[in-house]
Amino acid sequence: MNETALTVHQITRPHGFPTAEHFAFVESSLPEPAAGSALVKNLYWSVDPYHREMMDDVPGGFALDAPLEGRTIGQVIASHSPLLAEGEIVFHRQGWRTHSVVTPEEIRRLPRFDGVPLTAYLGILGGTGLTAYVGLTRIAQLREGEDLFVSAAAGGVGTATGRFARLLGAGRLVGSAGSAAKADHLTREVGYDAVFDYHDGPAADLLGKVAPDGIDVFVDNVGGEQLAAAVGALREFGRIVRVGTISQYNTPDAPPPRFDHADIVEKSIRMEGFLVRNHQAVQEELYEFAVPHLRSGRLALDETVVDGFEHLVDAFLGMLRGRNIGKIIVRDRTQSPSLSPSPSPSLSVN
Ligand SMILES: NC(=O)c1ccc[n+]([C@@H]2O[C@H](COP(=O)([O-])OP(=O)(O)OC[C@H]3O[C@@H](n4cnc5c(N)ncnc54)[C@H](OP(=O)(O)O)[C@@H]3O)[C@@H](O)[C@H]2O)c1
Repeated sequence: MNETALTVHQITRPHGFPTAEHFAFVESSLPEPAAGSALVKNLYWSVDPYHREMMDDVPGGFALDAPLEGRTIGQVIASHSPLLAEGEIVFHRQGWRTHSVVTPEEIRRLPRFDGVPLTAYLGILGGTGLTAYVGLTRIAQLREGEDLFVSAAAGGVGTATGRFARLLGAGRLVGSAGSAAKADHLTREVGYDAVFDYHDGPAADLLGKVAPDGIDVFVDNVGGEQLAAAVGALREFGRIVRVGTISQYNTPDAPPPRFDHADIVEKSIRMEGFLVRNHQAVQEELYEFAVPHLRSGRLALDETVVDGFEHLVDAFLGMLRGRNIGKIIVRDRTQSPSLSPSPSPSLSVN
């Protein structure tokens, strides 16, 4: 094999928004699997907001000048383990590189459901979908007919939350997103009743217009001003599902949101955060819930697919700037339907 491997390293720490200069693509010869391991050619990569948090000098964060972790799907191309067969498709966390050496303990075999593409296992059936499903069923304990507000509604978690909420019988479903095009996609395709662009004014005013009678549940991917607005709009016994705080990842000096703490008491509001990694036991239930809907067409995939590993950093930076609709996934060119090389990131919405 004459092929070489590429690995993305973080080389400096950002303050504020990261740029391409914080990363380097490092070329090497193909890694050799030792006895008991296998070489995987990676085919699909997930880039996620939590990677931004790991870029900071925090416990468990990315080490500088070392390969970065991330959720990846690849194919075994050489094996020195009887437990890993050549040709097998595996899921693992050694992303941000074209090739990975893995042991059987480091991979997960994906169940294959007819008609469901591999990208779904990084999106609606993967950590993204599981976050949405756990948020609605375990944290919010959503009941039929309840009204919901979702921030960053056009992203991976936001679109999955909207689609699942519809299937679970939610009442009025409103969201926020960063552009009119995203709002349009959400109301036309995903099932949202109304969506505001959060750039258009104070969040409390914009939320008041789309949810004049208030909300029962807020699924919060953003934090900041939208969280404060939601506290004001929540009804008695309302729930806030704290999923993420992306409005603060690139603005570390921004003040935390201010809201009336008395509202939490007087309206008996419950605010609860969670990490999806503590809810892996719900994965099978997610398959049972979502796969029949995917097959029947009642559930669709919202994905932005970027072709070419060399665009992985651009895809990550673009996601932080809101250039994605739905789950952003980077695809090896061999998996591209067209197989045609593109000179720049092609953000295609599937
Ligand atoms: N708790 C968990 O276990 C868990 C698991 C997965 C994800 N998360 C969190 O869930 C959230 C969504 O993650 P995702 O993977 O689905 O990413 P995503 O929503 O697909 O992508 C991030 C989106 O955030 C929006 N955004 C960026 N800066 C913003 C700002 N200042 N204010 C408002 N919106 C902003 C952008 O869309 P716009 O164009 O709309 O601005 C962008 O598309 C993140 O906070 C992430 O950390 C948590």
